[in-house]
Amino acid sequence: MIDAFKEVSEFCRLEIPAAHRVPVAIIGAGGIVDGAHLPAYAKAGVKVVGIFDTDEEKAKDVATRHNIPNIYASIDELLEKSNATIIDIAVPSVAQPDIFAKVANSKHHILAQKPMAPTFEQGQVMADLVDSNGIIAAVNQQLRFEEGVAAAHKMVALGWIGTVTSMSITVNLDTPWELWPWAKDLDRLEVMLHSIHYHDLIRWFLGEPRTVFCAAGRTKGQYTKGETRTVTTAVYDDGLTSLVHANHVNRGGDNYAEFRIDGDKGSIRGTLGLLYDYPNGRVDTLEINSKVLPTDGWTPYPVTTRWFPDAFIGTMGSVMSAIATGSPLRSSVRDNVNTLKLVDALYRSMDSRTAINL
Ligand SMILES: NC(=O)c1ccc[n+]([C@@H]2O[C@H](COP(=O)([O-])OP(=O)(O)OC[C@H]3O[C@@H](n4cnc5c(N)ncnc54)[C@H](O)[C@@H]3O)[C@@H](O)[C@H]2O)c1
Repeated sequence: MIDAFKEVSEFCRLEIPAAHRVPVAIIGAGGIVDGAHLPAYAKAGVKVVGIFDTDEEKAKDVATRHNIPNIYASIDELLEKSNATIIDIAVPSVAQPDIFAKVANSKHHILAQKPMAPTFEQGQVMADLVDSNGIIAAVNQQLRFEEGVAAAHKMVALGWIGTVTSMSITVNLDTPWELWPWAKDLDRLEVMLHSIHYHDLIRWFLGEPRTVFCAAGRTKGQYTKGETRTVTTAVYDDGLTSLVHANHVNRGGDNYAEFRIDGDKGSIRGTLGLLYDYPNGRVDTLEINSKVLPTDGWTPYPVTTRWFPDAFIGTMGSVMSAIATGSPLRSSVRDNVNTLKLVDALYRSMDSRTAINL
């Protein structure tokens, strides 16, 4: 069994070869950069040469604690003076398209945070800028690199559960939205900021859905304005189905985050440990029950890394690998336009209370 897992673990490896590593500069010194980007880069041996944030005190604090040698006074200065090859952008999405355009036009390669842009149309403009400037640009949908999730993807590709029939992701959480004050008054919240990871992930597994329906709700007394509970169903060609169920106002104290992929010859199930106690979390789990291998019932796959910070090595590593070898990006800006298109359809479904054909 362990031998069979070898090919899977090779696919999930979160390392950046020394020969691929190039200098990075960061725009945004917020919680995700502090807590995930920089710890991941330190683990992977990535050199961060400079940082800019409109809040200079924040930039100074983050730079001091993570040994970043240069704090820049503006984006223009960062682009002119740093010797960075890749610009890592991690600001709220409303600010990202303009920054992205400036960086793309300076011909630097880019890793942008999710959501890439507030609207699908803005995302399309950004993807066109990538093409016209001939740069490499990815979106930080790092769940595609999370070890348990990536292992599941490889198991599906190896045919271990036969033909996939359905995929589901269910999270029931007490989410600390207070961590993101800028999100308090957003009309579009849960799908746009959180479940976008799951919708993007399901696209990676199943491709584009044909028809989607999204029901959403708010809970009395919640901190945020936007929706905090969503249930999304999708139908694909060939009768494939998917479900995302996310509740962020779990007052039961039993946070859980589970995913499952069923096929006609087996099933895979896992948990996203991060969400059991965000942002500390616990170890992920992954199990497979396969008639193809075959396994003797449910068999655990040993996941040894975490979504935060480890999967962030994957997204940055993929940009570096694309620069060094021309390898395809797992989460390109162009691909992410379709995730934004799906998110847009889900909000249209929410607003109209009807199913939307894509
Ligand atoms: N899993 C993930 O990948 C993940 C997790 C959390 C947040 N995020 C995303 O990362 C982004 C940042 O989130 P965060 O949690 O760090 O938020 P945060 O509020 O902690 O930090 C945002 C930072 O951006 C800075 N900023 C705002 N506008 C700017 C501008 N025009 N130029 C430079 N800096 C600017 C702010 O001063 C602040 O320091 C958001 O888009 C969020 O959706 C992604």
